Amino acid sequence: MTGIFITGTDTDIGKTVVAAGLAGSLMDKGYNVGVMKPVQSGAEMKNGTLYSQDAEVMIKAVGSSDEMELICPVLLREALAPSVAAELEGKQLDLEQIRNAYMELEKRHDLVVVEGAGGIAVPLKDKFLIADLILYLGIPAIIVARAGLGTINHTFLTIEYARKCGISVVGVIINNYKGGIAEQTNPQVLSKLTGIPVLGIIPHCHTMETEGVTPEVEAISLVREHVKLESVIPFIK
Ligand SMILES: Nc1ncnc2c1ncn2[C@@H]1O[C@H](COP(=O)(O)OP(=O)(O)OP(=O)(O)O)[C@@H](O)[C@H]1O
Ligand SMILES: [Mg+2]
Repeated sequence: MTGIFITGTDTDIGKTVVAAGLAGSLMDKGYNVGVMKPVQSGAEMKNGTLYSQDAEVMIKAVGSSDEMELICPVLLREALAPSVAAELEGKQLDLEQIRNAYMELEKRHDLVVVEGAGGIAVPLKDKFLIADLILYLGIPAIIVARAGLGTINHTFLTIEYARKCGISVVGVIINNYKGGIAEQTNPQVLSKLTGIPVLGIIPHCHTMETEGVTPEVEAISLVREHVKLESVIPFIK
């Protein structure tokens, strides 16, 4: 296995921060790391063309020179579930194109860090969900979860659904930890309930909210300091 899929319990949970941070930290350890954001909805315009904000952060984290068609083959304008955004634009998602792009990146790198869209049950096309994409690419997943109240339920459901689908879950990364009582007790409860390890607890980072801060630099130092990289290294070829 030479890829790792970063999914989450929700949208806006820190998948890009974890994906970019993981990719950059592993590159700093000497690995040749590729990045991929197969589907970006809510893509923004730059110089008259759509681009992926998430891919941009990940690309900067590793200094990728792979073609954008490989890194982010599907760009959708509306910030909606990809199946809905694609339908609005009259586009058909080409799943084979996504897999071919992934396989090309896999050939070029020791590891490809792939960021999903939203959570695991988000539809990409008809009834084809992010979970189906993870299986289609044939790679294990890391689940990014929020730290506070509600996360036991969301994370448990995500892990159980992943299991039911046959996805191999490497672990959970808790993000945006602010130190409340639920936040302090959640990691132990989660690993006990699910048997899945918590690979790291990433604290809330004030500087990340500050204008002018380069997000990939912050992401790399957060992951390097707070995530057990040795749990991911066995997946690298
Ligand atoms: N540990 C943290 N401390 C402070 N801010 C954070 C932290 N993690 C993420 N953020 C901020 O929260 C927002 C969402 O993070 P991010 O973009 O990584 O989420 P996402 O799950 O990738 O979202 P999407 O579903 O849109 O892809 C960003 O503005 C990011 O800078
Ligand atoms: Mg993202």
